[in-house]
Amino acid sequence: MPHTNAKDHIDAMLHETRVIEPSAAFKATAKVSRADYERLYRQSLDDPDQFWGDVAAELHWFKPWDTVLDWQEPHAKWFVGAQTNVAYNALDRQVERGLGDKKAFIWEGEDGEVRTYTYAELLREVCKAANALEGLGVQAGDRVTLYMPLIPEAAIAMLACARIGAAHSVVFGGFSVSALTDRINDAQSKILITADAGYRRGQPVNLKANADEAAKNTPNLEKILVVRRAGTPVEWQEGRDVWWHDAVGSASEQHQAAALDSEQPLFVLYTSGSTGKPKGVLHTTGGYMVGTYLTTKTVFDLQDDDIYWCTADVGWVTGHSYSVYGPLLNGATVVLYEGAPNQPDWGRFWDIIQKHRVTILYTAPTAIRSFMRQGDDIPAKYDLSSLRLLGSVGEPINPEAWMWYYRTIGGERCPIVDTWWQTETGSIMLTTLPGAFPSKPGSAGLPMFGVEPTLMTHEGDELGPDDGGLLVIKRPWPSMLRTVYGDDERYRKSYWGEIKGVYFAGDGARRDADGYYTIVGRVDDVLNVSGHRLGTMEIESALVGHSSVAEAAVVGKPDEVKGECVVAFITPQLGHTVDAKELRAHVSREIGALARPDAIYITDAMPKTRSGKIMRRFLRQIAAGHDIQGDTSTLEDPSVLERLKATQAV
Ligand code: WT7
Repeated sequence: MPHTNAKDHIDAMLHETRVIEPSAAFKATAKVSRADYERLYRQSLDDPDQFWGDVAAELHWFKPWDTVLDWQEPHAKWFVGAQTNVAYNALDRQVERGLGDKKAFIWEGEDGEVRTYTYAELLREVCKAANALEGLGVQAGDRVTLYMPLIPEAAIAMLACARIGAAHSVVFGGFSVSALTDRINDAQSKILITADAGYRRGQPVNLKANADEAAKNTPNLEKILVVRRAGTPVEWQEGRDVWWHDAVGSASEQHQAAALDSEQPLFVLYTSGSTGKPKGVLHTTGGYMVGTYLTTKTVFDLQDDDIYWCTADVGWVTGHSYSVYGPLLNGATVVLYEGAPNQPDWGRFWDIIQKHRVTILYTAPTAIRSFMRQGDDIPAKYDLSSLRLLGSVGEPINPEAWMWYYRTIGGERCPIVDTWWQTETGSIMLTTLPGAFPSKPGSAGLPMFGVEPTLMTHEGDELGPDDGGLLVIKRPWPSMLRTVYGDDERYRKSYWGEIKGVYFAGDGARRDADGYYTIVGRVDDVLNVSGHRLGTMEIESALVGHSSVAEAAVVGKPDEVKGECVVAFITPQLGHTVDAKELRAHVSREIGALARPDAIYITDAMPKTRSGKIMRRFLRQIAAGHDIQGDTSTLEDPSVLERLKATQAV
């Protein structure tokens, strides 16, 4: 059975029996009915070539494909032989079909500044940026690292890379210098795009200063392109540093999108796995485009006049697929917000919804739980009547938070789509299409088109309904990752090698009699803190890198707001004392503030087996304040547990 850290939440989910139907009004205009889903889902499995060929045909291809899928397990090629361009489909195609004056982005800065771009304007900016990148020597096949706040230029830079066939690698602006350095080096990027600073909780975050630090240890890096966002002072290295407003500002508005092979790399995005080193998940052009296009259209039931807001930062896959590519491929109007949900106060999201008449909101359970704690009277002060659909992503949503979202934000009028997917899957894999199926609070739901999930044991035995097991996917899908950048062996091992013949997601799940999947949580050494993935090994190696630490073990602990939080057990280096504050700062420097341990236990010994393996199972119980359960007889020294239980975390 998969272990879980959010046990109480999970118990609540598994005993949840509420079923919430979409309203007749929602169903009446929904893009996909239940009958449509059933027919199309069947077709997507029985005749995938026809199904995916029909979806792809709604988009523009410079050259059609010879074959829809070439599957040499574990490597897939989709739309083989075809040529296309994601940025062309997201922009030129929209202008060509008459959407040039439609708003593409409504961007709001944390400081309240608002900027809008029509499709025609966004196309012009992307063309200029594409010309500027080419002027700096970027070519198809290169990697470009982005380290940016959520400003329009971040999306423009991504689309400009896509337009010329360079793969972007976006590094979340909250990551540290050392994390940025590793990612630039792993991707061998020659160009870094950043900003002087971004705003977070009213404070400028000096991204350029971090970029300068990183550049000291990135031998391949040639140029740093810098957007002036905050007007903060920056150090400048002539010849290496280039202002965005100079290079892009002076570039031509004419640019022809490159006709790219369907399997041309589109982006690399680093995510945590169960080893110390993050994986560069590689996505390619044609399949990712088709997958994000279809899921955005159907899961969010996109209508022409929707104002769609996904709150994710572009540093995460949700920001890639559902703030930029998926909605633009559908010609939607997208809201982007730069800052924190509580800036200047906890009404900020509701203010944005009221001001821009947002109709679709897609956010994370951790945000919902934070709002819930602030009470109902904050959202009550705002007009949220424009909303018609709500989405949740990133971690299991507990039924209590689900119901609060449904009642207080959605006014019991808006269906909720709880979408399960991963950086690796590229697009949504499980959910309930909003006009087709009822929701069950806490349960993600049914497979999307072309997705064939099931539950298995580690040995590869398929389980029936009402059993808990490992969530696997039995066949390739267009937007799946193609490899781990620079480490195909790791790709083979982690995803298609864990259980023979299937994609192993790393999550435990249950399935009910209606076929709905409820995600229980990760079964590997990956934590989910506020919807962000963190590898326990990654944090452990940061901790043991500190001179005062001899040994470190990191586990997750259930947390009411974050879902999970980080708990570290430390044995000090002989003759050293551990300073918890300094250790937290060290983890911030090594990885980023999001990985900082919430609690640190300093101990003289770890609970180990006779062969020296730390039994993290017991550490999780101690961190959660639970009684020790399970067989302790394999421990070398069971008294360690008693001592640890008596230890106060700092
Ligand atoms: C992991 C993937 C998907 C984009 C954001 C996170 C967890 C994701 C759900 C959900 C329960 C979920 C899983 C998954 N997860 N969505 N709706 N219900 N758990 O992407 O950083 O690649 O993390 O997030 O554990 O494996 P990611």
